[in-house]
Amino acid sequence: MFSKKILIISNIIFLILISVLVYILLFMGTEMVKLPDDNRIVVKYEPDLRDLVLNEMRDYLEVMNEIQQGLANNDPDKIIKAATRQGQISLEATPVRLLKLSPLACKQMGFRGHDIFQAIADSARVNFKPTTTINQLAELTNNCIVCHRTYKVESK
Ligand code: HEC
Repeated sequence: MFSKKILIISNIIFLILISVLVYILLFMGTEMVKLPDDNRIVVKYEPDLRDLVLNEMRDYLEVMNEIQQGLANNDPDKIIKAATRQGQISLEATPVRLLKLSPLACKQMGFRGHDIFQAIADSARVNFKPTTTINQLAELTNNCIVCHRTYKVESK
């Protein structure tokens, strides 16, 4: 008789615990996060252009990482190879459609980024000095930051 009571009580406790867990899993943690005000200008591209832009952005990050590795290993060839990929060559490959849809300041910052990548490659080739590359990287990163603060991309 006594053990039956214990069994019932422990089952009730178990059910309550399960209910609490189910409640936490299903109903908590779904609130929206509070974001800082977003005043960025929306730029609309067709889906293929948006993919192209974001793909290129991710490559910027990879190139910058390769440049940093080149700096860490005192390997200018690695820096030249990486930076060239997003330098003049990449600028020339920009589709005209993308230029047409981009606001002027956005285009200018885009061009500036490629110019700095090219300058990093050129100065590493002509006269490699780590401090020069680091300064150029800082200038480049600043260009990324300013553009990210100003624009966001949406699909048309
Ligand atoms: C001409 C403006 C501009 C410049 C310059 C720029 N970006 Fe972006 N980047 C954007 C925009 C716009 C987005 C999309 C942001 C959004 O929609 O919230 C973006 C997104 C990204 C993303 C996310 C990609 C993804 O798959 O979602 C990465 C990473 C990135 N940028 C890296 C960089 C780096 C690194 C640099 C500098 C070397 C850089 N960007 C320079 C405008 C720029």
